[in-house]
Amino acid sequence: MKILAIESSCDETAAAVVEDGRKVLSSVIASQVSEHIIYGGVVPEIASRMHAQAISGVVSKAMSDAGVGYSDLDAIAVTYAPGLIGALLVGVNFAKGLSYSTGLPLVPVHHLRSHIAANYITTPDLEPPFLCLVVSGGHSHIVAVNDYTDFSIIGRTRDDAAGECMDKAARAMGLPYPGGVNLDKISVNGDSSVYKLPHPHVEGSEYDFSFSGLKTAVVNIIHNSKQKGIEISVPDLGASCIETVADCLVNNTVKAAEEYGFTKIALAGGVSANSRLRTRMNKVCAEKGWQLYMPDLSLCGDNAAMVGAQGYFEFKKGNIAGLDLNAFATMPIDE
Ligand code: KG4
Ligand code: ZN
Repeated sequence: MKILAIESSCDETAAAVVEDGRKVLSSVIASQVSEHIIYGGVVPEIASRMHAQAISGVVSKAMSDAGVGYSDLDAIAVTYAPGLIGALLVGVNFAKGLSYSTGLPLVPVHHLRSHIAANYITTPDLEPPFLCLVVSGGHSHIVAVNDYTDFSIIGRTRDDAAGECMDKAARAMGLPYPGGVNLDKISVNGDSSVYKLPHPHVEGSEYDFSFSGLKTAVVNIIHNSKQKGIEISVPDLGASCIETVADCLVNNTVKAAEEYGFTKIALAGGVSANSRLRTRMNKVCAEKGWQLYMPDLSLCGDNAAMVGAQGYFEFKKGNIAGLDLNAFATMPIDE
């Protein structure tokens, strides 16, 4: 079964053709990073406009790279939530137009579900149930993946997402957007013991996260150092920040796995590309004798291949939308 998938939830316009949820026949991503870089972050209005300009060419390229025509396809999958509403609407409307003109069924895909599904491409024999740490720019969730389309949230952030915290910390350190990636690169050889940062803890919930205090602590160190004329070491402060975020993410995930009896753990989302997080997760899972699954680095950030993977399982479950499909800026993964 071949599915054309479309993704436009944030700042990448992407399309892919995926076979049986696991085999990527083509994957095209048009990144908007160069458009947003001068603003230090994603400007939603610019993102929508760029998607509208790019989407037709991106979809055509995905089709020709896969060597397929519309008569070879079985469905069209599209990210419809959560994300920037104007950005999502471009992909959703394009997919609706294609569905109408080709008669192919339209499959709505939740963005975080698709991040999890990136693991099905990287590890073709991975099957639920497993526990997944989903960490992106807007979300930080510990999710029980009970089945391909059945999820339960075990923990979540009470304020900022892990990616958001690292992006803002990176910005305060003077690093260019996209912050998390650049913070990762610059702090690879940093010493995480130089700067002491608070380890946030959510009272009454051992699986939830809180990252806004950590972000503020990083900003305060930078301001205080400036006032005193002391130069900060970006690699060391970056290493402390990432190490603290990784501590929280890894500790809560391990607690949840032990409590809920999971021995298969997966990572998903843009932050799952982080080198320290991957190393830390690898280490703890090896110690515990657990199986760890991580998306290939090329599948951690936003892409449409993962949408095609999740779209396949949604389609098999009968999750098909009509032409009245709308986009939603927020939507829980377990709805
Ligand atoms: O999943 P994603 O591409 O988009 C959303 O759905 O939000 O995640 C983007 C987030 C950003 O916060 C970005 O800085 C972060 O993932 N990110 C990283 C790394 N690569 C991307 N954070 C830390 N280290 C990385 N290597
Ligand atoms: Zn994403």
